[in-house]
Amino acid sequence: MEQIKDYITTHKDRFISELVELLKIPSISADTAFSQDVLETAKIVEKSLKDAGCDKTEICETKGYPVVYGEKIIDPNLPTILVYGHYDVQPPDPMELWTSPPFEPVIKKTDLHPEGAIFARGACDDKGQMYMHVKAIEFMIKNDVLPCNVKLMIEGEEEVGSDSLADFLTEHKEKLANDIILISDTGMIANDVPSITTGLRGLSYVEVEVTGPNRDLHSGIYGGAVPNPINVLNKMIASLHDENNHITIPGFYDKVEEVSDAERKEMAKAPFNLDDYKKALDIGDVQGEKGFTTSERYSIRPTLDVNGIWGGYTGEGAKTVIASKAYAKISMRLVPDQDPDEITQLFTEHFKAIAPKSVKVKVTPHHGGLPYVTNMDSLGYKAAAKAYETTFGKTPVPERTGGSIPIVALFEQVLESKTILMGFGLDSDAIHSPNEHFGVWNYLKGIETIPYFYKYYSELAK
Ligand code: BES
Ligand code: MN
Ligand code: MN
Repeated sequence: MEQIKDYITTHKDRFISELVELLKIPSISADTAFSQDVLETAKIVEKSLKDAGCDKTEICETKGYPVVYGEKIIDPNLPTILVYGHYDVQPPDPMELWTSPPFEPVIKKTDLHPEGAIFARGACDDKGQMYMHVKAIEFMIKNDVLPCNVKLMIEGEEEVGSDSLADFLTEHKEKLANDIILISDTGMIANDVPSITTGLRGLSYVEVEVTGPNRDLHSGIYGGAVPNPINVLNKMIASLHDENNHITIPGFYDKVEEVSDAERKEMAKAPFNLDDYKKALDIGDVQGEKGFTTSERYSIRPTLDVNGIWGGYTGEGAKTVIASKAYAKISMRLVPDQDPDEITQLFTEHFKAIAPKSVKVKVTPHHGGLPYVTNMDSLGYKAAAKAYETTFGKTPVPERTGGSIPIVALFEQVLESKTILMGFGLDSDAIHSPNEHFGVWNYLKGIETIPYFYKYYSELAK
């Protein structure tokens, strides 16, 4: 595997320019106006798997956007690694906050990326991180050092909840059979603090609608005498946390796994600087559940957050009006052993129960997903740790992250395999935000590290 360094030196310009081409296509799965672009991206990804040396590639239809599949089977008796990634991206808005257009990638230097970072929607999440695998596999196949079998499934609906994937997994269980799943769709602590993600939070996402009067009203003629759905909705939302920032939904915490003091102590060893954290986000103070540290609040504790709220008049100037309806989108991040369907149910019952008689309330569930944790004793974790030790010269820190990749729990249920999450992005890479970027160093380091995972995993699995 040692040739990987030279291979990167020789081919790095091409590795970057290929990723840049991929980033130019706006594969926004949430917006149907871009459906042709999403489909076009699937084709380019398929071609890249062919070019990397996969024996078989395929664009697999689903109810939604297709899954791109590729494989290189060298010997059925050897272990098989299944790589998962996604080629769809988040919508880029708000557009005006981008310093360069989201689908015209450019390389710019930043404080944390002195060697430059590629700025584009999807640069880190997940086109850049997915493409590291394609290039790592290209290296292993072209240099005849692939030590095991590899399969890849790259989906196009991750950012909208992977709706078609449960069926896809069940239907293609045989085809996707593997010993371990490898994903780069998370982050690491810092370029000099490599980490392996050992946990992901689950998700329950709902939309609520509060209806007051049957039409918009003059806020002078009727104001003060009728329910204002926007006022009511805000009060209801405010009541969902108590003064200690505990969530007030009855039963919400019933299944939350209490992490032992010993484990909390172990987790607290991961480097975290509160001042830097506040400074990076330009916030006067942090906020969260009493009794837990900031890192615990975003990893081992569940949350409830309003992601969007609207209603009434928001145009220029002032319009005096009491709206008929108010809306909000609310996400709840879940931890083991909370169940998304159960939490959605508890939320719905509670939200209806706290609504005053003066309004009508509707709750619509969106996507959800189960949380995931993995332990450090597995072959996969050990192989990943050795890979980082080889290329970073440091033992990676295990870290539970706050984000969600719902498919990971499904992999465990349907394919009965564990997942190793080797992320190379930084939290500051602005995924889902304007000016998303991915360090060129991180991109190349990922390509360098991945082949060692193959090597050590194949050795350990013997
Ligand atoms: N790659 C992210 C998840 C992620 C990012 C996990 C960073 C850990 C660290 C993924 O694409 C994502 O955005 N997931 C969504 C959930 C999905 C159902 C839309 C999320 O976490 O909001
Ligand atoms: Mn992602
Ligand atoms: Mn994402």
